Amino acid sequence: MLTASHLSKHYDTARGPVSILEDVSLNVTRGDSVAIMGPSGCGKSTLLYILGALERPSAGTVTLDDRNPYELNEADQAAFRNEHVGFVFQDHLLLPQLSALDNVLAPTLVSRSTQAATESLERARALLGAVGLSSRMDHRPGELSGGERQRVAVARALILQPSILLCDEPTGNLDRASADAVAELLVSLQDDHKIMLLVVTHSPALAARFGRRYELNDRALAPA
Ligand SMILES: Nc1ncnc2c1ncn2[C@@H]1O[C@H](COP(=O)(O)OP(=O)(O)OP(=O)(O)O)[C@@H](O)[C@H]1O
Ligand SMILES: [Mg+2]
Repeated sequence: MLTASHLSKHYDTARGPVSILEDVSLNVTRGDSVAIMGPSGCGKSTLLYILGALERPSAGTVTLDDRNPYELNEADQAAFRNEHVGFVFQDHLLLPQLSALDNVLAPTLVSRSTQAATESLERARALLGAVGLSSRMDHRPGELSGGERQRVAVARALILQPSILLCDEPTGNLDRASADAVAELLVSLQDDHKIMLLVVTHSPALAARFGRRYELNDRALAPA
């Protein structure tokens, strides 16, 4: 279970502090799927980073199965992320010089898990198959379409079998058909893997496919 309690976030800028989130609380249990919507700049990515142990909140706590990643030292925090969190970034962040397959395998190279390399390879192939890219495994990101790159990013986020999958506008740059394919994929993966799924999206159609919907507006999170 993911519990976020009374989160706030402000950034110190040259013009003084800027408040992004105020008193945001959220509980997500295994098998839950949650959509987070809201206008550009309202703090959706920031919230996702905080929930994914990537950005320390200014106040409040985040716990995943009763462990607070922000109480860990840097190395343990990185290990915590590897073990628990899958992240699909807003701009996918694939490594351009690696093939699709090697991009999916990249997180296993820094993992402390004892998972054998052959097992990782099999799993990466299976995930690329699950996202419909069996015939594109050896393509580099520059040789893939936008939707295909997003799907590689989804496969990569799942390679270490996270308990939580955080997706930041996974269909943001896609045409309708590709967006539908990625949405379908997320819903079915969530079902298969029984993960906690949180998706930031501007698309009401995508949001409608998830169990719960929230709107982030004026620094607060409210059911939509
Ligand atoms: N390091 C930083 N220092 C100062 N302000 C920041 C910093 N990072 C983000 N912000 C500000 O925080 C606000 C929230 O940013 P965030 O990226 O979370 O928005 P968002 O809701 O994801 O927007 P979008 O829909 O455009 O992706 C923005 O106004 C942004 O300018
Ligand atoms: Mg964003």
